[in-house]
Amino acid sequence: MKTLKDLFEKNKKWARKITEADPDFFARLSKQQNPEYLWIGCSDSRVPANEIVDMLPGEMLVHRNIANLVIHTDINCLSVIQYAVEVLKVKHIIVCGHYGCGGIKAAMDNCEHGLIDNWLRNIKDVYRYHQTQIDSLNDEKEKFDLLCELNVCEQVSNICHTTIVQNAWKSGRELAIHGWIYRIQDGILKDLNVCTTSPEAISETHRIK
Ligand code: CO
Repeated sequence: MKTLKDLFEKNKKWARKITEADPDFFARLSKQQNPEYLWIGCSDSRVPANEIVDMLPGEMLVHRNIANLVIHTDINCLSVIQYAVEVLKVKHIIVCGHYGCGGIKAAMDNCEHGLIDNWLRNIKDVYRYHQTQIDSLNDEKEKFDLLCELNVCEQVSNICHTTIVQNAWKSGRELAIHGWIYRIQDGILKDLNVCTTSPEAISETHRIK
């Protein structure tokens, strides 16, 4: 039987390090969580949510999937958003993509990848919405980078279109949806400046009266 002993060793060291710096940390944390942020990011092992923004357990609610998508029928992601907004009352939802995303890359080719194609098709839709802009570039790397960015912007819109977020705004709650992108090469985050804080900023088609 393989027990991954080394991971348990690492865990003990990690918990000890935190307790040494703050003896009540885990006791305090066990009583409640009160994060201000919901992070929706890619599952990529090189883009670990908490570490990138140097946050401790308890500071950020996290949902990750391939290519950081927010799909209208994905009950998993929508449940996390509902819990974050309605119960934890987070003030910020951050969609964080990353350059060099394997999910985006796979969506750009015309090969078959199996089951995952049904997920990647959502990215192909993003490509189609912005086809003129993307295809106006000649360089493949630039196209790839741009689709990584546009995919984040599209997911920010998808979050804003949910009744969860629109109802929060309607009740006067302060809630900002951000779109960021991370560069694995240098560990630096970039704000894509698509921060949305009210229904006036979203398309009329999706606005709920
Ligand atoms: Co990725």
